[in-house]
Amino acid sequence: MGRIIAIANQKGGVGKTTTAINLSACLAEAGKKVLTIDLDPQGNTTSGLGVNKNEQEKTTYELLIGQNSIEECLLKEVLPGLDVLPSNVNLSGAEIELIGIRQKEFILKKEIDKVRDNYDFVIIDCPPSLNMLTVNAMTTADTVLVPIQCEYYALEGLSQLIHTINLVKQRLNPNLELEGVVFTMYDARTNLSLQVVENVKSNLKNTVYKTIIPRNVRLAEAPSHGMPITLYDSRSAGAESYRLLAEEVIQRDEESGQQ
Ligand SMILES: Nc1ncnc2c1ncn2[C@@H]1O[C@H](COP(=O)(O)OP(=O)(O)O)[C@@H](O)[C@H]1O
Ligand SMILES: [Mg+2]
Repeated sequence: MGRIIAIANQKGGVGKTTTAINLSACLAEAGKKVLTIDLDPQGNTTSGLGVNKNEQEKTTYELLIGQNSIEECLLKEVLPGLDVLPSNVNLSGAEIELIGIRQKEFILKKEIDKVRDNYDFVIIDCPPSLNMLTVNAMTTADTVLVPIQCEYYALEGLSQLIHTINLVKQRLNPNLELEGVVFTMYDARTNLSLQVVENVKSNLKNTVYKTIIPRNVRLAEAPSHGMPITLYDSRSAGAESYRLLAEEVIQRDEESGQQ
């Protein structure tokens, strides 16, 4: 059964989408079957994987409002081994449309459960808020992966996010766990980056990934070419770091399967 990982942090600009795109691509490159779900109305994961978001008529939005089935909405083999559930700006209307709908927290889960056996990993890119879309991601997911940007305000909002994860766990998805924290945009030239890493590590202990994603301009350029870093610049520091992260994610999945 595929492991479903929601990439969440209500702060914008911390590297959620970059991680969703490149972790997905690196898992697929490692031979895993991957589904990437874009749950952000900005649709940057969709376009970053080379899909024209504005041409899509069957997206996460149509799925959530019950207009189309998961099979209809999936884009197959966008890259070798990687399927995409796309999104675009239409998704920003979903929150309102779902008012009063019964079991609206579980719409995504019910659909994804139909296909999860086809995948080794399902990666969900969340919007930058703790809204109904993020709750849908957390009821669907097994774990939440939290990107943290190495900057002064890194810890701000983290306790709120962990509180949300715990609430969802208590009330909606008892199996939900914190997959871990991954540091992004690390700048080896500044003491600040190092201090942030040390500070978060001492607060969170074992849920921190060993791999730290460096600040790397190739990672920032790749989306405008519609490519993950593995295609845009396969040998860049950014590509190497996301490959290492993918290895760690695979290893944790194997370890949790043995328990
Ligand atoms: N490791 C990195 N190195 C350089 N730029 C990055 C890195 N990670 C993300 N970025 C850039 O930072 C911005 C925010 O990243 P993004 O992944 O979109 O964050 P989020 O999805 O959390 O809002 C984007 O312009 C992205 O290209
Ligand atoms: Mg994003």
